[in-house]
Amino acid sequence: MKNPIIVALDLPDAASALRLAERLTSVVGAFKIGKELFTASGPDIVRQFRAAGASVFLDLKFHDIPHTVAKAVEAATRLDVQMMTIHTSGGLAMMQAAEKAAQETARQLDRPAPLVLGVTVLTSMDAHDLAQTGVNATPAEQVMLLAQLAAQSGLRGLVCSPQEITALRKVLPSTMQLVTPGIRPAGSEMGDQKRTLTPKEAITAGANALVIGRPITGATNPQAAAQSILDSLN
Ligand code: C5P
Repeated sequence: MKNPIIVALDLPDAASALRLAERLTSVVGAFKIGKELFTASGPDIVRQFRAAGASVFLDLKFHDIPHTVAKAVEAATRLDVQMMTIHTSGGLAMMQAAEKAAQETARQLDRPAPLVLGVTVLTSMDAHDLAQTGVNATPAEQVMLLAQLAAQSGLRGLVCSPQEITALRKVLPSTMQLVTPGIRPAGSEMGDQKRTLTPKEAITAGANALVIGRPITGATNPQAAAQSILDSLN
């Protein structure tokens, strides 16, 4: 991806997503379609973005038995998304099945395999939340454990928070793609994000792509906001 900005289209319906995307398509690298938009508008929203030539990151965070996740990954690969997410806490066999489904389906279709990104520990969870689910590691320890399991499974990318990039870069293969939300341009509103980095800081720390929502989607001029973030990277 030449342009590392992925815009999170956290919007309620297809019409508003498509309207915004049209203004942003020349200044961003990809569009992230998440659970709200996908559930409201269905796979057609992905087809519309692909028909317009835009790259799509389908963020549905699959987590199920290996067979079911593999089938969902196959369906997403057929939709021709460029990236998608699964939960690494689904285990080694689930991740292996997901990666294999992406590779094999893409091969059948004669396309590059989409990047299956592993999500480790949700940033909304602290040590107490983890303990309630029976995990007695700190979030940082658990992120490290799951990230290494993801690398062992053959996944080629991970979603990680800005705070995790440096530590992960030390232990992961250098080819592992790190996609990072929690990005705030200098001087912008934090919203509910507590630990942020600027776009430049995140790239310098080793992120390959940045997921940015409200600083772009909530700007008076979203196109200018995205362009200014892009400029800040050079
Ligand atoms: O508006 P904002 O830039 O905070 O949007 C960030 C996007 O990244 C949202 O779609 C959010 O759900 C997602 N995300 C996040 N933190 C994570 C994982 C995903 O903010 N740890």
